[in-house]
Amino acid sequence: MLKLVVLISGSGSNLRALLEACDSGSLPATVVAVGADNHAPGLAHAREFGVNTFVVEPSEYANREAWGQAFLAAIETYGPDLVVSAGLMRILPADVVRALSPRLINTHPALLPLFPGAHAVRDALAAGAKETGVTVHVIDEGVDTGPVIRQAKVQIEPGDTETELHERIKVVERQLLVDVIRDIAENNINLEELNPHGRP
Ligand code: GAR
Repeated sequence: MLKLVVLISGSGSNLRALLEACDSGSLPATVVAVGADNHAPGLAHAREFGVNTFVVEPSEYANREAWGQAFLAAIETYGPDLVVSAGLMRILPADVVRALSPRLINTHPALLPLFPGAHAVRDALAAGAKETGVTVHVIDEGVDTGPVIRQAKVQIEPGDTETELHERIKVVERQLLVDVIRDIAENNINLEELNPHGRP
């Protein structure tokens, strides 16, 4: 059973999809803890499923490196096999990435390398794109630059608002994230081969 720590900042709908998939037995994994950088509403999903939560707020640390070390220590308490950034809206410091790589993945609401960063859906609309989508990738030290594991496309409809488009992306995203983690759990995806740091 793959032990997951899931990291969030917001509503946690991807987290909820993971919790439900683990609970129903459709995903051979278990969420051992959910961490956040703020008292995110999505933490309620973890509590509902009886999963441990932790909050490590940057404002309580002298700098982002110190915050990162505290966040990493909390993550490592749970001995995860895989750490899943599912809506964590903060860049992890390089030391944290190196400590967890390559068993550290992220889901991003765009077809990377297009539209990295915190406003991917808005940026796709502003660029007049006809399609966008979701990318699940290994986290490296850049901003949404790590090796792509899998992507799925979503059409942009005329008149789409950012909220409407993001909701349609999230429907696809939840399924893609569950499918990728199932493939990792079943050894159909080998993260070591995608290792952005070239470790043996
Ligand atoms: C998701 O769409 C995720 O891809 C995105 O935030 C949303 C979180 O939704 N992450 C990023 O934009 C990171 N750059 P959720 O809290 O409902 O799962």
